[in-house]
Amino acid sequence: MEAAARELLPPPVYDFFAGGADDENTLRDNVSAFDRLRLVPRVLCGAGRPDLPTPPVGAMPVVLAPTAFHRLAHEDGERATARAASAAGVVMVVSMAATVAVEEVLDAHRGVDPDAPAPWFQLYPQPDKAFMERLVKRVEAAGCGAFVLSVDSPVFGHRRRDVRNGFLDLPEGLHCENLRDPDTGAVRTIAFDPRSGWDCVRRLRETTPLPLWLKGIAHPDDARLAVRHGAAGIVVSNHGGRQLDGMPAAIDLLPSIVDAVGGRIPVLMDGGVRRGTDVVKALALGATAVGVGRPVLWGLATAGEAGVTRMLDLLRAEISRALALCGVARPSDLTRSVLCG
Ligand code: FNR
Repeated sequence: MEAAARELLPPPVYDFFAGGADDENTLRDNVSAFDRLRLVPRVLCGAGRPDLPTPPVGAMPVVLAPTAFHRLAHEDGERATARAASAAGVVMVVSMAATVAVEEVLDAHRGVDPDAPAPWFQLYPQPDKAFMERLVKRVEAAGCGAFVLSVDSPVFGHRRRDVRNGFLDLPEGLHCENLRDPDTGAVRTIAFDPRSGWDCVRRLRETTPLPLWLKGIAHPDDARLAVRHGAAGIVVSNHGGRQLDGMPAAIDLLPSIVDAVGGRIPVLMDGGVRRGTDVVKALALGATAVGVGRPVLWGLATAGEAGVTRMLDLLRAEISRALALCGVARPSDLTRSVLCG
């Protein structure tokens, strides 16, 4: 799908989606670290056909990670993604940098299956607290089920492909619709705020009754702080290799964080998940579910809603087959013992 998307997208857009920070070492490692892990199946387990539902996320242990600017990939943008997520019963995390307003994304989602798990909404901490509070209320009113605060972006990563391509802003006609002022019609830019601290988590928890996840946790001490600050869950992530180059692969960060959290809250991971066997490896290391970022964009670019559906169909079939081949009946039954070494 990535190869097909690359054929179709303008090269600067492909580079914006595919690229990472600086030398892209972390970007490459996210994928290659999965390849280094090997699975050792048990036989004659009599486990039957695997069952994929994965509380608290959805119909399978996969969520759509928040990614910016879906209308760069397909005219319908986030509406197409939402329809595919709804049909598949998986959680879509709507990016703060979505190019369709959250109300319209939620309408598209409800239009397919009103009972599907509600999308979540990703936020970057904004220095303008009053704006942040208004946005939170707007997202609640739209019907999102949780917030995901991305905490790995005190400044914006240095993406050399984008600098080289001069890809520094959205093209004419596309905007971050969730940053539009309802009174003036003006669209703000997202601020990256190096002064934000844990008080931001405290304030958000006082602002909204919805579950608050923290995304971009890499250090076990921060995982413990997240638990202490009442996070509903955390997402282990290096932002798909787009922020601090030189970080370990996300899958390599996972085990020590799972140990630090000790089952108190669910732990998700994202970065480099491309196959059902990658999902199985992450679950075996203690993730409750995984996020996929770029695969959604490749699906969107190739065929809009149908492309995202196709990507999810492939993943579902691969996860189910990999679980069966490992002799396991459901995602939560996987343990580290299925991994070699
Ligand atoms: C992202 N990611 C991201 N994360 C976030 O919290 N808010 C955002 O707006 C974006 N935007 C974004 C755009 C693009 C083009 C990419 C590729 C990624 C990071 C994303 O949520 C996730 O952490 C990674 O994409 C996971 O890695 P894979 O699955 O792309 O390898």
